[in-house]
Amino acid sequence: MKINSIKGMHDLLPHQTRNWRQIETILHNFFNVHGYGEIRTPNIEQTKLFKRVIGDETDIVTKEMYSWEDRNGDNISLRPELTAPTVRAFIEHNLEKLNKNTKLYYIGSAFRRERPQKGRQRQFSQFGVEAIGSEFPEQDAEVVSMAYNIYEMLGIENLDLVINSVGSEESKKNYSKELKIYLSDFSNQLSDVSKNRYKNNPLRILDTKDKEEIKIVENAPNILDFLTESEIEHFNQVKRYLDKLGIPYRVDKGLVRGLDYYTMTTFEIRTNSIGSQDALCGGGRYNNLVDQLGGKSIPAIGFAAGMERLVMAISGEETIEDSVDIFILSMGDLAIMNALKICDKLRSQLGINVRMDLTRSSFKSQMRQANKLNANYVVIIGEDEVNKNIGIIKDMSSGNQSEVPLDTIHKNFDIKSDEQ
Ligand code: HAM
Repeated sequence: MKINSIKGMHDLLPHQTRNWRQIETILHNFFNVHGYGEIRTPNIEQTKLFKRVIGDETDIVTKEMYSWEDRNGDNISLRPELTAPTVRAFIEHNLEKLNKNTKLYYIGSAFRRERPQKGRQRQFSQFGVEAIGSEFPEQDAEVVSMAYNIYEMLGIENLDLVINSVGSEESKKNYSKELKIYLSDFSNQLSDVSKNRYKNNPLRILDTKDKEEIKIVENAPNILDFLTESEIEHFNQVKRYLDKLGIPYRVDKGLVRGLDYYTMTTFEIRTNSIGSQDALCGGGRYNNLVDQLGGKSIPAIGFAAGMERLVMAISGEETIEDSVDIFILSMGDLAIMNALKICDKLRSQLGINVRMDLTRSSFKSQMRQANKLNANYVVIIGEDEVNKNIGIIKDMSSGNQSEVPLDTIHKNFDIKSDEQ
């Protein structure tokens, strides 16, 4: 019986991984020039980490986590996001001792048991940053602008950067109380999901996608009216910095995000070019999280972005074709032996991308393969050539051919020896 991959979990095939690797290389460089160091944490963590960080009542924790009891009785989960593991590692390794302002980035898999659709998988990849140590708005501006600049640099159009501030834990609580009072007038009109949120996490109702509820929350009290003066000033300063950096944004008082740890600045970047799952990335401040997880009281801000959505926004269905520098055509045992040796030298000594056929295809078919791979050169070694101890090098763009002794063929492609 045929066994397929699990629903919502996809293979990435070579024509796709080529794309991904190119983007990942750009991201690694981007984060490096911003002074962020890469962190890699395990795919599995203790379930209580996510419960405590993301929030007991959030969709992610209540419905979407892959959790199970390990053989020794530990409750463990596949990570649904990478902020919690990153902060756990930050505390576990006392990273604040190394640097007052710890700047980390990651690229890795995350798992959420959501309903799969375009742009939404059950296993997906996130890249993101966590800047731990500064409470100041310039840190917010750096993180928000980095997120924005990645998409701009990669040519994604119609970017919609939405920002908000949810204030401190205290302000959030005060606001929640007011919001509940306001929503109590509409309790009959709320969906079951929102009724549940009303009890446990009323702020999440602001995120509703239900048309009727959207009308209700439009007139809800404004969270920004519940911020203290210094929280408002922080938010204003973030906006001033973004203005100065030329980064366009709009403020949306409904942007509260689906994870409980946020305080102060929250943001999301969307685009209309990838379908209904339009959030390219999301993030915000989480000033209490390090403390909450048993570390010191250290403020932080970060964002995470979906790799699949970025790839979709960049290329649609486009893929990068496989290509080679040299293709070696060979026919007959001795020719194959020579071709193997030349391939080995070119690859291991000169790092050249070279291929040969390993299925004993006809010359014609080997030439077709070379053409398909856009080879710059082909080397032809047939029985005649072996007898004469030569190979024919053909420059595929000019069509010029030359006969070269078999044991010196690799030297023709050694750019370094040319330069000397
Ligand atoms: P999040 O908004 O849950 O935030 O996820 C960030 C991004 O991951 C989303 O904007 C989306 O691009 C992608 N994403 C989420 N779920 C899926 C899915 N099922 N399939 C495909 N892509 C998905 C966080 O995860 C926070 N940890 C962000 C953060 C970092 N906040 C502070 N630091």
